[in-house]
Order: sequence, then C-alpha cells, then structure tokens
Amino acid sequence: MSKIILITHQKGGVGKSTLTYNLAQNISKNASVAVLDYDLQGSLSQLKNMVSGFDIIPFQKGKEDIEKLDYSFIIIDNPPYLSNYLKELIEIADLIIVPTKAGILDLLAIKSTIELIESENKKDKAMIVFNMVKANTSLTMDILLGLAEYNVKVANTHISDLVSFTRSVLMQGVSKDKNAQKQLDNLTREILNQLI
Ligand SMILES: Nc1ncnc2c1ncn2[C@@H]1O[C@H](COP(=O)(O)OP(=O)(O)O)[C@@H](O)[C@H]1O
Ligand SMILES: [Mg+2]
Repeated sequence: MSKIILITHQKGGVGKSTLTYNLAQNISKNASVAVLDYDLQGSLSQLKNMVSGFDIIPFQKGKEDIEKLDYSFIIIDNPPYLSNYLKELIEIADLIIVPTKAGILDLLAIKSTIELIESENKKDKAMIVFNMVKANTSLTMDILLGLAEYNVKVANTHISDLVSFTRSVLMQGVSKDKNAQKQLDNLTREILNQLI
C-alpha cells in the first residue's frame, strides 16, 4: 500500500505545488514517488516531461483509482478551491499537510480547510507547515495563540522565503542551496516520521 501525502489549502499562492514538487524530489532519492496533480490549471503537470526520479500524473479520479497505483509514496497536489474530490482524498490520506504563511490573516485563512479535515475525523493526520517564512523571524504571540486554537500538529521545520524554492521546479530541486536543502531534509524527516 502506498503512503498518501495530501497537500491542501483552499487558497492559492501558499506554496502547495512548490512543496509537493520538492518533497517528491527529495523522497524519490530513496523510494518510488508519484505526484498526482488535481489542479486543472495543471502547474506541475506541465513539468511532467522535465522531471526525473519521480512521476507527475495529471489526475482527476477517485480513491479506488489511487489505490490501484503502485508507488511507495503518493503526493497529491490540490487546486486552490474546494474540489469534488477533496473529501475523498482527505479520507484516504495518511498525512495531510496544510502549508501557510506566518501571518495572522494567513492563519485565519486555513480555518475552512481545518474544519473540512475535522469533519472527516482526520485532524490527527493533519500537519500545518509554515512556508515562506521571512529571514530571522520567529512566530509572534498572536500566531502561537491562533495555532493553539486549531489544535493541529505543527511541523517544527519552517520553510524560509528563499529564491531557491522559487526556482526549484526548474532547477530540479534546491540541492545547490545548502540552507534550503537542510530545511527540506528536516521537513522530509518529520513527514516520514509521521508515516511510520
Ligand atoms: N519557500 C518559498 N520561498 C520562496 N518562494 C516560494 C516558496 N514557496 C513557494 N514560493 C513561490 O510562491 C508562489 C506560489 O507558490 P505555489 O507553489 O504555486 O503555491 P500554490 O500551489 O499554493 O498556489 C510561486 O511563485 C512559488 O515559486
Ligand atoms: Mg498550486
């Protein structure tokens, strides 16, 4: 059985596709990985023929078809809206990653995604990942309080706002930037720990 990692947030521009790409790239160094692209605007699918080490599959099917796939890890990138498939994907996910920026409005914006996860009784499988964190900043008190209210796991690793992440999808990852690669390795480790 594949381990299924769902990347979701009903908002665009929070880094879902970038995180999906980089996690796939990193995990595929040691295991077979497929990215399922549910975004009809198809940002990752357009890179389908440019990646090596893992597969990117444009995918608009339900859970039975996912369960037929033969990969160690399946990472699912979602569109920035509530798709017909999202409930089903939440149901079968082994881990649900909700990327967010570290602002109070950004945190409020994940409320509906968290509520949907909660309605499927999957809050214990959810993990918030702070992305595009500005250099030398720590989480402020209002953010910490907002987080406590959600009662969802938060990744210890924060992903910084770095140009190497912006470029990663064209550069086959972030390995040339030691800092970015270290963050990605730490996050990958945390994710794999959640899955075993
Ligand atoms: N950690 C990061 N550092 C710098 N830029 C980032 C980072 N993560 C994402 N981006 C950039 O932010 C924009 C939105 O990211 P994207 O992955 O397309 O978000 P989504 O899939 O949620 O809409 C893109 O231009 C992407 O390159
Ligand atoms: Mg996207």
